[in-house]
Amino acid sequence: MTPDIRVTIAGTEFVNPIWTASGCCGYGEELANVFPLSKLGALVTKSITQKPRMGHRPPRTAETASGMLNAIGLANVGIDAFISDKIPWLEQQPTKIIVNVAGSSIQEYVNVSARLADSPRVDMIELNISCPNVDKGGIEFGVDPVMTEKCVSEVRRVFKRPIIAKLGPNVTDITQIAKAAEAGGADALAIMNSAFGTSVNIDTWRPRLTNNRGGLTGPAIKPMALLMVDVVYRSGVKLPIIGIGGIATWQDVVEFMLFGATAVQVGTQLFVEPDAPVKIAAGLKAYMKTKKLATVADLVGKVQRW
Ligand SMILES: Cc1cc2nc3c(=O)[nH]c(=O)nc-3n(C[C@H](O)[C@H](O)[C@H](O)COP(=O)(O)O)c2cc1C
Repeated sequence: MTPDIRVTIAGTEFVNPIWTASGCCGYGEELANVFPLSKLGALVTKSITQKPRMGHRPPRTAETASGMLNAIGLANVGIDAFISDKIPWLEQQPTKIIVNVAGSSIQEYVNVSARLADSPRVDMIELNISCPNVDKGGIEFGVDPVMTEKCVSEVRRVFKRPIIAKLGPNVTDITQIAKAAEAGGADALAIMNSAFGTSVNIDTWRPRLTNNRGGLTGPAIKPMALLMVDVVYRSGVKLPIIGIGGIATWQDVVEFMLFGATAVQVGTQLFVEPDAPVKIAAGLKAYMKTKKLATVADLVGKVQRW
């Protein structure tokens, strides 16, 4: 019996549960030179805003023990250029396309999402309401349940296909934000964005990012992300969860699924090993065969608690 690693989220079927994470493979063109995108469950784009953004001055990434810090500052081409220059290529790709949307006001999220609603090949949008790296419009929509619900529900009115709300760990109680996203009409939750962090060069006494602080990602944050998935999965929120944070191997994916993730995204590991998603999908299939599991659903939320 060949294990079935297809997953269905909000009525959309994915060939496997391994997706890319926003900001870690641009708009996908470079990744398509590494492996056929048909092997990917879904491609999630860089965050798109209404106007083009240059982002912060370099250095805007720094390596840390077991991870990296970044403060890119949402550098992106803006919705007009995204639609004219990026969408035509994305439309040809043999994978699901999820466009990540960011904004500095709810109206900006609505405007960008409304433009994407006109492109039928955009299978879903992911609302980045948890970016820790910009002064305005990063995180404030994802730390206050009232703002979260308002943002999701306003976007819901203009975008009729599935909406994923991407939550971050920089909150007191992530379940309140998850419940607000559900109340606003989200179809799925992506958990989690990067954690706050910083680092300083001890020769120059300058922070290693020009933004002075940034978001921590990579293996260092995996235990935090697992716990966030776990608490939301058990909170009574019914939405499927897409787990993100430090995933580098198929073993990491199994951990996320046992704690309740239906799918996952691979971010920082793409900088180390761009074909990681392909290896991870193969490893997951082999594991399921060994364990005699028929479908991915046989793993989701099956952790045996003490
Ligand atoms: C360089 C870099 C840029 C990122 N840009 C975005 C972004 O534009 N939008 C977003 O929602 N998340 C962004 N993220 C966060 C990732 O999508 C992901 O949530 C985070 O890196 C945790 O996953 P990882 O540990 O597998 O990298 C970025 C992460 C990195 C490392």
